[in-house]
Amino acid sequence: MKVKKAIIPAAGLGTRVLPASKSIPKEMLPIVDKPAIQYIVEEAVKSGIEDILIITNRGKSAIEDHFDRSPELEERLLASGKQKLYDEIVDLSKMANIQYIRQKETKGLGHAVYCAKTFVGDDPFAVLYGDDVILGEVPACKELCDAYDEFGLGVAGVKYVPSEQIGKYCSLNVKELRKGIFSVSDMVEKPAPEEIISNYAILGRVVLPSEIFSILENTPAGAGGEIQLTDAMKVLARTKGMVGVEFSGTRYDMGNKLGILQAIVETGLTHDEIGEDFKKYLLELAGNLK
Ligand code: UTP
Repeated sequence: MKVKKAIIPAAGLGTRVLPASKSIPKEMLPIVDKPAIQYIVEEAVKSGIEDILIITNRGKSAIEDHFDRSPELEERLLASGKQKLYDEIVDLSKMANIQYIRQKETKGLGHAVYCAKTFVGDDPFAVLYGDDVILGEVPACKELCDAYDEFGLGVAGVKYVPSEQIGKYCSLNVKELRKGIFSVSDMVEKPAPEEIISNYAILGRVVLPSEIFSILENTPAGAGGEIQLTDAMKVLARTKGMVGVEFSGTRYDMGNKLGILQAIVETGLTHDEIGEDFKKYLLELAGNLK
């Protein structure tokens, strides 16, 4: 079954990127000239998603404004002959059918996803974490949706993570089915060294069947007092089984400072307008680094 709906949870507090995220949602932090969440919406659209629900909360109205029309700005761009920018700004508001819902309390990613229950209905849906930007030739969300279409099971986007870092992620019990495709039968969130099952971890994208909502209803608060999506996915993996897809793009974690810098530098280097100049600058800078 084709996946046509996606949700983008963007209601977290972003404490790791304070003070920047105090009044600007971290999902709106720019990678060169586009906010992170625009890359994510573009990925969803390129993956065949038609309806998107963004989970927001207080103080995140900049996200809604970004995907809305802006009549005064559009008029000014037209009047000054900036047709290309005008087209780009208008296209932004037409990219997809985007709706919003507020998560009234920050009770975790599982709780944020649960807020999408009515929007999702009985359909399978993709979850694109609002602070994980994945850039590559083939959209990661499409790679996961294709696997859902093939296997009819929940799908997790995975990457191989070095042992010293896996404790920050969700370690998976995987069995390779073919190159880059795994069956997933169990998972441990933020494993202690003796709990690591494998170096494969869930990163930034999942596709889930609607039955995740009845599991979430019975999922108690876990790590950090929050309702964890991984606790619910663990039940799914243990009962029905899930599929892991090693997506081909590069993932940037916009929820931490180093991730933001990596995204900006790498995107800047291939940017149409400033890429060449930025490369020259960076080479010169690097040559003087000690
Ligand atoms: P994170 O755990 O990275 O977000 O959640 P956070 O809570 O903002 O981060 P820190 O630890 O305080 O820096 C991953 C995604 O889930 C969303 C976040 O916005 C982020 O895109 N999220 C998280 C919600 O929508 N609601 C929540 O209650 C928690």
